[in-house]
Amino acid sequence: MSSQELPTKFEELSEEELSKMTIRRATGEKRLVRCTPGGILLPYAFVKLARGFHDFQFRSGDVVVSTFPKSGTVWMGEILWAMTHFDRLAAMDTSAINGRSYFFDLDFLHPSSSSDYSPLIAAFQEKCPGGQVDEGIMLQLANADEGRRVIKTHLQFSFFNDSLLSKSKVVYVARNPKDACVSLHYFLSQKLDTVVEGGFPATAETFMKNGMTFAPYWGHLQQAWKLKDHPNVHFVFYEDLKADVMAELGKLNGFLGLDLKEDQLEKVAEATSFENMRKRDLEKPLTKMEGSFFRKGVVGDWKNLATPELDAQMDRWIAENSKDMGIQFRYS
Ligand code: A3P
Repeated sequence: MSSQELPTKFEELSEEELSKMTIRRATGEKRLVRCTPGGILLPYAFVKLARGFHDFQFRSGDVVVSTFPKSGTVWMGEILWAMTHFDRLAAMDTSAINGRSYFFDLDFLHPSSSSDYSPLIAAFQEKCPGGQVDEGIMLQLANADEGRRVIKTHLQFSFFNDSLLSKSKVVYVARNPKDACVSLHYFLSQKLDTVVEGGFPATAETFMKNGMTFAPYWGHLQQAWKLKDHPNVHFVFYEDLKADVMAELGKLNGFLGLDLKEDQLEKVAEATSFENMRKRDLEKPLTKMEGSFFRKGVVGDWKNLATPELDAQMDRWIAENSKDMGIQFRYS
C-alpha cells in the first residue's frame, strides 16, 4: 500500500443538507460525502475504500469503461468483454454479468449485507480466501484476476493512480444529459429502497443542481473530453452506438488493437443487442428492481416526460455548461 497522500479530501453532508434532497436514497447511499477537488458527490462508504481504489494497479491489457451513471456502462462493458474474450462468447449465455466484468462501484454503492451480493460473496470467498468483504469485493476479485480484465466505474479518473491512463485502455461513454436524467429517474424510482419525492421534475432539478451521486455531470464529462485524444482514451457517444453500432465496434477494434473480422464484430453486436441483453437479464437479473434494468435503450425518451418549460430549462443549463467545451449531443 502506498503512503502517498490521497489527492482527494472528503466532507460529509450534514443532516440538514440531506433533508433538503428530494431523493431518499437506497440504504447504501444514505450518507454522502462531497469530494474536493471537483465537488463530486459520493456515498460515504467510498471513504473507507478510497485508498484501495487509488492504489489499484491497472495492467496493460485491462480495459476500463468510464461513465456518468446511466450512460450505457453495462452495454459497453458487455461489448468490451465480448470483443476481448471473443473465443468465450457463448459464456455470455451462462454466466452473470458481474462475474465477467468488475463493476468497482458496487463495493461502495451497495451494503455488502444486501442479498443482491450473496452470489458475489460466494465467488469472492472461493477466489480470495481470507479476504475481507468490507475491503471491497470487486477490488479484490479484480486484483486476483490474472487474465484480461474489464473494469467498469463511474469514479472520475482522479480517484485512481497514473496506471489507469498509462497502462489500461479507457473507453469513456457519454450520453446526452436529458436521456441520462430520464434513465436515472426510472432507475431510482424502480430500485426497491429509494424514494423520489416530486416525480420527474424533482429528479431533473436534482440532476441540474448536481445532487446526484457522482455529480457534477459536467465535471465528469469534461475530465474525459479533455483527454479524448490521449492514446489510451477512446471517447464514444451512446447515441452513436445506437445509430451505427458496427461503425463504433470498428473504431473500438482499432483502439484495442484486436483485429477482429467483420463477421466477428457482427456476432459481438448481436450478443450485446438490447434485446439479447434484456433476455439474458430475465434469467440472471443484474440488480433487484421492479422491471428490467434494460428498460428502453433508446435516444430521445426525454420528450415523453419533460414539459416544454422543463425542456427549455434543461436547454439553458446545457448551453451554459457546454459552451466552452465544443461538445455536441444528439437528442433524437
Ligand atoms: P434506459 O433507462 O434509457 O433504457 P448504465 O449501464 O450506465 O446504467 O445505463 C443504463 C442505460 O443503458 C439504460 O437506459 C439501459 O436500458 C441502456 N442499455 C443497456 N444495454 C443496452 C443496449 N444493449 N442497447 C441500448 N441501450 C442499452
